[in-house]
Amino acid sequence: METKISKIGVFTSGGDAPGMNAAIRAVVRTSIYYKKDVFGIMQGYDGMISGDIVKLGARSVGNIIQRGGTILKSARSQEFRTKEGRKKAFDNLKKQGIDALVAIGGDGTFTGLTVFFEEFGVPSVCIPGTIDNDLAGTDYTIGFDTATNTAVEAIDKIRDTAISHNRLFFIEVMGRHSGYIAINCGIAGGAVATIIPEETMTMDELFAKLDEGGKTNKKSSLVVVAEGSKIGGAMDLAKKFAERNNYFDIKVTILGHLQRGGAPTYFDRVLASKMGVAAVEGLISGKNNAMIGIRNSQVVFNSFETITSSKHGIDAESLRISKILSI
Ligand code: F6P
Repeated sequence: METKISKIGVFTSGGDAPGMNAAIRAVVRTSIYYKKDVFGIMQGYDGMISGDIVKLGARSVGNIIQRGGTILKSARSQEFRTKEGRKKAFDNLKKQGIDALVAIGGDGTFTGLTVFFEEFGVPSVCIPGTIDNDLAGTDYTIGFDTATNTAVEAIDKIRDTAISHNRLFFIEVMGRHSGYIAINCGIAGGAVATIIPEETMTMDELFAKLDEGGKTNKKSSLVVVAEGSKIGGAMDLAKKFAERNNYFDIKVTILGHLQRGGAPTYFDRVLASKMGVAAVEGLISGKNNAMIGIRNSQVVFNSFETITSSKHGIDAESLRISKILSI
């Protein structure tokens, strides 16, 4: 079924993620390919509320596929949480004649759009863009691959110092409530332990493991800690371990926003391109209130409800591998 959509609005919302620009490019060019007008809404929902909306053409998205961040800018809008804010946003869309939306963001973005759809019925499709890879319904979110590669590169560099100085490093990585970045950094970076919110390793168990390293003449070690760790962040863990252990020289590195920037990997560019095309084709063929996902290399559509009511769990095999290799 082909719908009557004629003007598509695209925006990025929540934390920026490498590959968002590639997704914007794909949405814009696919819209033009299907002879639809396409508009960029600046600064996420805030721009929808203030009317900061610009018409885009094929050339507006030239030379951005390789760039990190988002040319449309992003925000975590407080005003869109209010009914008045959403009404202003709808009025601005109407003024421009925008009759469908593509949102690129995380679960906060989708939650906002679910409410917006219930109130105003603007058809919308979401593209999962977040480094956290915490969204159900997709094996990968845009930005996760780049962020994890960036973190692993940093961990490799820290390892050089750890080895040269016989040091134990606690390295904290992002991910909000998810351990996806951490578990993969732990495996790829050769960590002696990885602390993630999904697992129940106690502080005592972690410290016993680290003590074991001292007893077996392990001179240096890396512990990767997810920022959502339930037993404390890298700083807390390092402080507490230092109180009971004088074998290792202990250091802490918090990678922070470094992980969100930089040129997207080939994987994120291709993923973003596939998802951008699918989003527009989905809207045109009548898909609505749905999030694009990639499952076993195939593009799929999930209902917002599936996404907002469940989380992307860490796969058991990654946990198993991580345990076997970190001795
Ligand atoms: O969701 C992406 C993310 O980078 C999380 O990993 C992190 O917890 C959060 O955003 C940081 O948000 P902000 O940039 O607003 O400080």
